Amino acid sequence: MKIDYDITKDSNRVSNVVPSLIRTVLNRVDELKKQGQDIIALSAGEPDFNTPSDIKEATIRAISQNHTHYCSNRGYDKLRMKIAEKTLEETGVLYDDQTEILVTSSGAEAINNTILSIIDEGDEAILFSPAFVNYENMIKISGGVPVIIDLSRDNSFEIDVEEVKSRITDRTKMLVINNPNNPTGTVYDPLILKQLCELSVKHNFIIVSDEMYSRLVYDDAVFMSIAAFPGMKERSVIINGFSKTYAMTGWRLGYIAACEKMINAILKIHQYSTTCSPTFLQIGVAEGMDTELTKKEIKVMIEQFAKRRSYLLQRLDQMDRLSYVVPKGAFYIMVDVSRTGLSGMDFAGKLLEEKHVAVIPGVGLGKRCQDFIRISFATSLEKLEAALDELGEFLEECDKNPNFEQC
Ligand SMILES: Cc1ncc(COP(=O)(O)O)c(C=O)c1O
Repeated sequence: MKIDYDITKDSNRVSNVVPSLIRTVLNRVDELKKQGQDIIALSAGEPDFNTPSDIKEATIRAISQNHTHYCSNRGYDKLRMKIAEKTLEETGVLYDDQTEILVTSSGAEAINNTILSIIDEGDEAILFSPAFVNYENMIKISGGVPVIIDLSRDNSFEIDVEEVKSRITDRTKMLVINNPNNPTGTVYDPLILKQLCELSVKHNFIIVSDEMYSRLVYDDAVFMSIAAFPGMKERSVIINGFSKTYAMTGWRLGYIAACEKMINAILKIHQYSTTCSPTFLQIGVAEGMDTELTKKEIKVMIEQFAKRRSYLLQRLDQMDRLSYVVPKGAFYIMVDVSRTGLSGMDFAGKLLEEKHVAVIPGVGLGKRCQDFIRISFATSLEKLEAALDELGEFLEECDKNPNFEQC
């Protein structure tokens, strides 16, 4: 490079990427905790449960038995077999464990590698907002163009198929959905999914479906995988993982199910990023993921999420100035705080600094979500109760404030 060039300058690829506001909140929470503050965090998307015991024990065993070497790039054979069985159970779609399943080091890696292997410079990808932040940033890193469709609270954060139609162009190569959804809790209506599939066939684009929360559905909601629609196995990539439904966020283990040709392309990126996911983790998960004890522990966890959700909704219903769309899946709720006179950003900031309750400002998940905060209910009932007491107090103080509109 020329002598006056700043060699520490980031690439254009990186400068297009925005740091996640979620991380900013989590860092502030850490700072306050270090200062000795007792913070109730309703911010992170991580179950407070322990990883199922059989998975932990089998992993410790795998280390003791020295399974500490590389394994297949595609993932440990037995784990791929178990993932194919799990996927069949959850989606009704049969994937070949030898050629159509790829184990990754997290759902995040699965998303990254999928996008990198499909999107070329200038390709358009339709995304919905609000959303998990990785999709937009990875499309940008890949040189693609994110085409963002804002979901409306008035439409219960459902997808408006007519709007999707109006945003499709000759360059549309991908559409990304996240079902059940972080942060809205929407479990997409099968009729809408069917229409998206028809558009995928008509306009020839791939649907990437992030189904990380597939097991977390409540009330009468029914989860349906995009791959289950006729002809869609060959036109979709399914992202899933162990973080959320097995309480394994720190393990960094995810997977992809797709047709052989797409898996082979994604494998090339995976091979040069992580080589393979840690062998002993894969063995431990393969041994422990479907034992009777694990099934029981997962069932208890899901039941607890359902209880926490009901409790949260019931408490929020008593707070006049807050409103929400009932979440049918995952463990988040988007709460509209506009009737307090505060933006979601200010509301979240004050709630953290004054009441020591951490939530995520909606704008961190979607530019149009200034009026919202995201609450995660992946925390114990006791903590949820204490946080909601604080929230109630905060709202009462706002009410008493003579400058209420500015609060
Ligand atoms: C929708 C969604 N997809 C993927 C992930 C990534 O999960 P992990 O990388 O922990 O497997 C998350 C995590 O919050 C998520 O909410």
